[in-house]
Amino acid sequence: MKERLEALKHEALEQLGKVADAGQLNDLRVKYLGKKGALTEILRGMGSLSAEERPVIGQIGNEVRSAIETLIEEKQAHFERLETEARLTAEKVDVTLPGRPLKQGAIHPLNQVIQQIEDIFIGMGYSIAEGPEVETDYYNFEALNLPKNHPARDMQDSFYLTDDLLMRTQTSPVQARTMEAMKGEVPVKIICPGRVFRRDDDDATHSFQFHQIEGLVVGKNIRMSDLKGTLLEFTRKMFGPHTQIRLRPSFFPFTEPSVEVDVTCMKCGGGGCRVCKHTGWLEILGSGMVHPRVLEMSGYDPEQYSGFAFGMGVERIALLKYGVDDIRYFYNNDQRFLQQFARV
Ligand code: DAH
Repeated sequence: MKERLEALKHEALEQLGKVADAGQLNDLRVKYLGKKGALTEILRGMGSLSAEERPVIGQIGNEVRSAIETLIEEKQAHFERLETEARLTAEKVDVTLPGRPLKQGAIHPLNQVIQQIEDIFIGMGYSIAEGPEVETDYYNFEALNLPKNHPARDMQDSFYLTDDLLMRTQTSPVQARTMEAMKGEVPVKIICPGRVFRRDDDDATHSFQFHQIEGLVVGKNIRMSDLKGTLLEFTRKMFGPHTQIRLRPSFFPFTEPSVEVDVTCMKCGGGGCRVCKHTGWLEILGSGMVHPRVLEMSGYDPEQYSGFAFGMGVERIALLKYGVDDIRYFYNNDQRFLQQFARV
């Protein structure tokens, strides 16, 4: 039995000497010291020993166990050290590396256009007015001389929420709201930027929701020439000092007379190109002299006061100004598109 114990010790220590990782080490621990391991197996035979032999063999057994345990512990410590070292190397932090730059946000191109237009009109003494996106039928249509069942309501297919409430189809209702709030005082000189909604299928040039900027001036002796001068000043600041404008007769229920306003094509300078369909002109807004009925309904006597109004689509202006060919780019939030408008 003594020989078997010595042989076991010799074998175990030799095996442990060759162990390559913590997993193998654990296997050997089970193999030699486990409950069903080799040492237990040998010592189970102690029952058949004489009383003198038993303590001697018992002691040798203990020595063999502790020799194996000691080596296992040493190996264990060795593997743990290796692991820690490996982790330290892998996780090394280079404190001299430059930091990751934070991505900087920028103002959305549509908001940039809105701000630019606001600045131009503020410079001409206008203030900014706002109105609700959920609007009553009265302000969106009736107060703008579009009574129920008026055929011109079809020009703007609407999202109705109830019989009387809808998503506003235009920023023009802010005209009526502002005049009402001013209670007959003049001058009224406002622009109203905001979002509007129409039942339209989205494509390169249409969207069910877009932005408009409305303008309204009411006072004494406001004439068509004031409208023309104002729009010329605006378009020159917006598109460049050589811009010309052209007024074409049109129809809007809330203005009389009504005009559509074209500017010289900013792509070709008026010579004719694909963008302006070879006319040299681009339509950018609707406008006219405020209809006497509209003044009257909102508390201004048309015998004493007159005014002009205009409305433009922000997306259309942005498309033309930046030469973008699809309105959907403005809504998709693709960084590669938006980044081009970032002002550093
Ligand atoms: N609200 C019109 C539209 O959405 C645009 C417009 C035209 C506004 C003429 C006006 C105006 O104030 O006078 O088509």
